[in-house]
Amino acid sequence: MKKDPFFEKMANLGLALTYDDVRLRSGYSETDPRDVLIESFFSKNIPLHCPIVSAPMDTVTESKMAIAMAKLGGLGIIHKGLTPEIQSNHVKKVKLHLNGLIEKPITVKADDIVGAIEERQQNKDYGFHSFPVVDEGGKLIGLISRNDFDLNNDKSLRARDIMTVLAELITAPVNTSLEEAYSILKQARKKILPLINDKTELTGLYVFSDVNRLLTDSSSLYNVDKSGHLRVGAAVGTGNAEIERASLLVRAGVDVLVIDTAHGDSKNVYETLKTLKQSHPKVDIVVGNVSEGESAKRLVDAGADGIKIGQGPGSICTTRIIAGIGCPQVTAVYNCAKAVRGSGVPVCADGGIKNSGDITIALGLGAHSVMLGRVLAGTTETPGEIRLTAQGRMKIYRGMGSLGAMQSSRTARERYRQGEDDIKKLVPEGIESVVSYQGDLANVLFKQIGGLRSGMGYVGAKTIAELQEKADFHRLSGAGMIESHPHDVTIIDSAQ
Ligand code: XMP
Repeated sequence: MKKDPFFEKMANLGLALTYDDVRLRSGYSETDPRDVLIESFFSKNIPLHCPIVSAPMDTVTESKMAIAMAKLGGLGIIHKGLTPEIQSNHVKKVKLHLNGLIEKPITVKADDIVGAIEERQQNKDYGFHSFPVVDEGGKLIGLISRNDFDLNNDKSLRARDIMTVLAELITAPVNTSLEEAYSILKQARKKILPLINDKTELTGLYVFSDVNRLLTDSSSLYNVDKSGHLRVGAAVGTGNAEIERASLLVRAGVDVLVIDTAHGDSKNVYETLKTLKQSHPKVDIVVGNVSEGESAKRLVDAGADGIKIGQGPGSICTTRIIAGIGCPQVTAVYNCAKAVRGSGVPVCADGGIKNSGDITIALGLGAHSVMLGRVLAGTTETPGEIRLTAQGRMKIYRGMGSLGAMQSSRTARERYRQGEDDIKKLVPEGIESVVSYQGDLANVLFKQIGGLRSGMGYVGAKTIAELQEKADFHRLSGAGMIESHPHDVTIIDSAQ
């Protein structure tokens, strides 16, 4: 590829580079940035409409972020600093957020007490209020909707007392399509359409708001699975407890598992990968993190469906300082992507992205997606409150190897292979910080994607594959970097 001689030269000089060391060379272009295609893959079977993935960190990705990411065409990876049950509930929330056909609706029985149903709804954090009522044999006998709950003050009543009975419901047969459901619901001015077979057994459910969303233009960007549910990933660690965590996540409907460790090229990671591939052959397993070509190749040979690159480039990372290991991220991504070229296994550049230009560079190096922590950390969708400080509105952003994260989570300690005996004796490999509040994710991603599109226009690449093919690099000097930023002026609008 075009960039290979550049990196050969750098390797001969013994130089490993990072984002601020390079820029892409511009080239002849017939590419309008508005027309470029940024479709890509996170792993062999997990496509992306936009090549951005949110990091599995406790200050970045829970269900709210994962929903927003998937709606913008990317993907969120739910962090593992949660109990397996809570983490699976986050996965379920994403999977239930948007339904084409709900194949297994959550049902209630006629004798269930209204107060208990409401309690269950709150405890499980269901984002919906409509429950089909079925008998012991799964036959539909009625439906309780939000109105039935709202208009009833007596919580001791039973479902049968407040439900709309089957004879008064609009239903449809088993194989009703999304489009048919849409017109039936619209015509009947109803919000819920239960599907039943000829024995009146409940076989599925359509909800108008979901059907409507799926059939409108704005949803063409959504990253959805074959049944129309938003895609979501989840992080797991290594060892037996984590194998159980993975099973729970798979049962909750997770699309991709990420073995999330600080050193992916480790014996226990290979063992976990082997077990997970055997127990869940239909779920993609992405493995990380590594920063050497041989490590990436070993993981691909061991059956990984995606590789995550980055040891120490992250904004909150101190691994390189504490442990003295790691490779600057541009060289790491290039070497790993080159080592697995042609294998069909996508590579994700994880950490160290500061500006949108770095995304273009990462993809040009051979990555198929980038994973972001800091860039997304200040958005509305991250866990945690906005804090009012003297510097303005802030949100907390911390490394999963920071003291706080390791003290609060076993899996965070395991990521750095620490704390089995005494959780007071920890050597942090990350820090805790605050970042400015940035508003909604959609605005932040719009700018990142806009920068990527622009970069592809300058290179003359219409697709990410073409960007990888055509990318070539200049080595920047310190003066070159200073020249790249605004200089010799007093900034009155930073345009950030
Ligand atoms: P950015 O630069 O996007 O990086 O903030 C996010 C990535 O950093 C990694 N990560 C850590 N690395 N110590 C580390 O050395 C940590 O405490 C830590 N926490 C997160 C992780 O790969 C994430 O996606």
